[in-house]
Amino acid sequence: MFSSRTDWPLTPNRLSRLLEERRRQGLPVLDLTESNPTHCGFNFDAEKLLSALADPRSLAYEPDPRGLLAARRAVAGYYAERGIQLVPEQIFLTSSTSEAYSYVLRLLANPGESILVPRPSYPLFDFLAGLNDVNLIWYSLAYHDGWRIERHSLAAALAPGVERVRAIIVVHPNNPTGSFVDREELEVLLKYCQEHTLALVADEVFADYAFAPEERRVTSHAGVSEALTFTLSGLSKISALPQMKLAWVVVNGPPDVLPKALARLEVIADTYLSVSTPLAHALPTMLETRHSLQPQVLERVRTNLRWLDEQLAADLPVSRLKAEGGWYAVLRLPAVRSDEEWALELLAADGVLVHPGHFYDFATEGYLVISLLPAAEILQAGMRKLLARVLRSA
Ligand SMILES: Cc1ncc(COP(=O)(O)O)c(C=O)c1O
Repeated sequence: MFSSRTDWPLTPNRLSRLLEERRRQGLPVLDLTESNPTHCGFNFDAEKLLSALADPRSLAYEPDPRGLLAARRAVAGYYAERGIQLVPEQIFLTSSTSEAYSYVLRLLANPGESILVPRPSYPLFDFLAGLNDVNLIWYSLAYHDGWRIERHSLAAALAPGVERVRAIIVVHPNNPTGSFVDREELEVLLKYCQEHTLALVADEVFADYAFAPEERRVTSHAGVSEALTFTLSGLSKISALPQMKLAWVVVNGPPDVLPKALARLEVIADTYLSVSTPLAHALPTMLETRHSLQPQVLERVRTNLRWLDEQLAADLPVSRLKAEGGWYAVLRLPAVRSDEEWALELLAADGVLVHPGHFYDFATEGYLVISLLPAAEILQAGMRKLLARVLRSA
């Protein structure tokens, strides 16, 4: 009765089962994975956000496959602030970045073809690829005092005889490693895109959350036109409003291919017309609220990072890997047990919830991932317990 693409193992994993059991028993949980910004005590301008949804123009239905022009102009304005000039025709609104991925994969790949994705990275790639009938091939990010793209893994993924690849995905900065693509890496990626007729897809949802400026970093892929390039972002992280379900794709590329891509994408978007009119009218205001939200989020993230770095002295068995941005920290700890076992023990014995590295496809054991969004008291209480447990066991 069901498609094979939905043959997922539907039993919850051990960590989810344990968490559910703890919550059922009413036991406390120090959730160091909380990355829902609406649960983290930030100050949202409720009146501004809600009144933006009550625009009387929303009573008329004037569908546009790319999404309301005024909304796309606001998105173009966001990139103009970063020195990137776009025309609204290059922008398509979607209900989420996930939907944007689907549009782009439907545009680029036939069933059974492949896309390259970084490892470790965003856990949803498996599902996004499966639902769009494409295969994943991984290239590696390697850690040497900072995460960088491992060039030979890209070369191997594109070697002759490897299945048909249609696109290279980058996450800028990557979740959970917090590493941005630098200019040199972009050059290499573009060389591969040109040689193999591939598109570049850049997920930039966390791009505004850099811990420090850095010259070598790519500002945004939205301005890249040497290859067909799709840049994905949206309100879920930019304005810390995941519940609003509003994102976009910016398309750029060489003049011989860009108009063709835009025309085809327009048909995909026209088939769904997925962004509601009240939201589209509200987008300029919601985007603007980033100016009060981002400083709050960055302050939280920086405070938590500072505290972590003060605690994790050089001779401790737990260290934090260097990151350049994003909302996560990667902790390295002794691989005396698997990441899964560490996470299970921390939850069962200490009520501390962390993510094991394998959720993000780390190549080896010895990594836990925590969110940097929880309030400082929660992060500190959870980390103290984590440190005490590792010191006892290591
Ligand atoms: C790398 C990355 N892309 C996209 C998203 C989700 O974006 P959206 O809510 O727009 O689908 C997330 C959410 O955590 C993410 O980590």
